[in-house]
Amino acid sequence: MARVPQDTIDRIRDSAEILDVVSDYVELRRRGRNHFGLCPFHPEKTPSFSVAPDKQIYHCFGCGAGGNAISFLMEYEKISFVEALKKLAERYGIELNLHRDDGSEKFFSQLYAVQNDAVDFFRKKLHSEEGGKVLDYLSSRGLSDETVERFDLGCAGDRWDHLLSVAKAKKVPQEVIEKCGLFTKTDKGIFDRFRNRLMFPITNRGDRVVGFGGRDMTGESDAKYLNSPETPIYNKREILYGLSRTREAAREDRTVVVVEGYMDFLQLYQHGIKNIAATSGTALTTGQVSQLRKFADTVYLAYDGDVAGRKAAISAGYNLMKGGATAKIVNVPEGSDPDSWVVESGADSFLRGVEDASDVITFHFDNTSFDLSIASERSRLADEISAELGAIGDEIIRRDMVRQVAERMGVDEEAIIRKIRGRSRRTGPQPAAAPEASASPLSSAAKAEREIVKLLAAGDSDIADLLKANTDLDSFSDPMMKTLAGYLLNSGGGNGNLSGALDLFQEKGERERASRILLEAATEEDAHRVAVDCLITLERSPLKARIDEARIRLRDVERSGKDPAEALSSVMELRKQLTQLEAKRKSLLEGAE
Ligand code: CTP
Ligand code: MN
Repeated sequence: MARVPQDTIDRIRDSAEILDVVSDYVELRRRGRNHFGLCPFHPEKTPSFSVAPDKQIYHCFGCGAGGNAISFLMEYEKISFVEALKKLAERYGIELNLHRDDGSEKFFSQLYAVQNDAVDFFRKKLHSEEGGKVLDYLSSRGLSDETVERFDLGCAGDRWDHLLSVAKAKKVPQEVIEKCGLFTKTDKGIFDRFRNRLMFPITNRGDRVVGFGGRDMTGESDAKYLNSPETPIYNKREILYGLSRTREAAREDRTVVVVEGYMDFLQLYQHGIKNIAATSGTALTTGQVSQLRKFADTVYLAYDGDVAGRKAAISAGYNLMKGGATAKIVNVPEGSDPDSWVVESGADSFLRGVEDASDVITFHFDNTSFDLSIASERSRLADEISAELGAIGDEIIRRDMVRQVAERMGVDEEAIIRKIRGRSRRTGPQPAAAPEASASPLSSAAKAEREIVKLLAAGDSDIADLLKANTDLDSFSDPMMKTLAGYLLNSGGGNGNLSGALDLFQEKGERERASRILLEAATEEDAHRVAVDCLITLERSPLKARIDEARIRLRDVERSGKDPAEALSSVMELRKQLTQLEAKRKSLLEGAE
């Protein structure tokens, strides 16, 4: 593809005046800081198409169209990016140098290629002499050769540089080695991340391998399971283990069973239950819920039959309801998991369990640790449930659940509704719901990311300084917000021209969403407090995730009968960090005065 050098694009963008360009096609009238006109992209009688000359972008509040001068031409004239650049270059007397370039696509294909090399490498190892013990282990757990093959299981051997030497021999570039998640970098050098482990390849929506889970085979490692870290191709918040191979089965009845572990997944699959996916033992995220929603309306949660499993199932259940799914929780017997269940009692027994699954409210009442014969404890359970119900966007579902809770508590529905309202007041006034916000409920971290982008785009230099000093881009999980924040943090906060930010998005829908966020950005009165809250939220979310992980580890240790002191102290340490974060919040807030 012909490519225009980036500095030429920048020059064209900086020279193009959005008002000039749009005025060629649309009659604009000034109102306040912005100019309005009838939208050229959808029929309308009152102007909702707005152009912000200070930001150099446009957005239509009627149909959602949005972008900068370049994208306006592309969409109005139905021409390509390069053609739009040509037109603008002509208009502003800039010379275009077209040349060929291979860009960053290569980096991504190399990241995928290394994962494939690793799959081959681990599989060969499994069938070599060194893998004998692991093969025996697999058959002792009842997994057939067919299952092992179908899911490309493998094993990592004992050496520190096994896979590394393969990658080096293949001349995999250093950057790829460092970013692919298969190696760890220490001050002593780079080593294989996975050693002495049974390896489970993890695939993305397109069924390409993006990472691995590895089960310890020595019985001596602190971590029973070790997983690939998040990488440019492995987005943990979106992926569910196995779904790329089971989505068709899920689509048949629009029903899917979600389990926690790799072993649970494989065992159910082998027993003929194929509409399944696994979370890899972490909390079910909004991103995962929307993946599941593409193939299923009803989701059965079959989590481990222990306190941690039941708690995780309840919170996953509410997350599914927030995403508009029907959620049911399977009553897995104490001490079992789906794997041991089907191995001991067969697939029919498990399927009966699925049929008898409870709805989320019932399961929550049946498994709460509160003593429901005491009024104050009942009230605390009601608080806990209200917090979840408040976030359920679908009014019909929410009302139905309110009714259920009220019946079980023996109070009238108003009492529960008051609790829900009381909570939303405490968390501050809710801004008028924007369409994108109501489409899918955002997590608090996602909201914080978006708010930070808006604060940066509003262009207050004190706030920009505060955010520059404290924002950790790596903690962003929405790639779009990360891109926007990265751009805004590095653009020097200078002239307020935001049109360059919109060129970062090739996809129309993304550009439109971005244009809206940027156009809405305006200086708020309590911007400093909002900024501090967002920064703290962003730090708090991963910390909470680590606490979840530490709890899983603690559970492993306790189950294996080893001394839990160390695992316990790491949970305590993380909790301490949570407290310290609160202190940081206070000090950042005081920094304003
Ligand atoms: N997990 C993890 N890290 C740990 C423990 C668990 O990532 N230290 C994840 C793994 O994806 C695992 C899932 O949580 O598959 C469920 O954990 P658990 O129930 O402890 O493991 P099982 O799947 O039951 O594994 P096994 O039967 O092999 O013991
Ligand atoms: Mn298990």
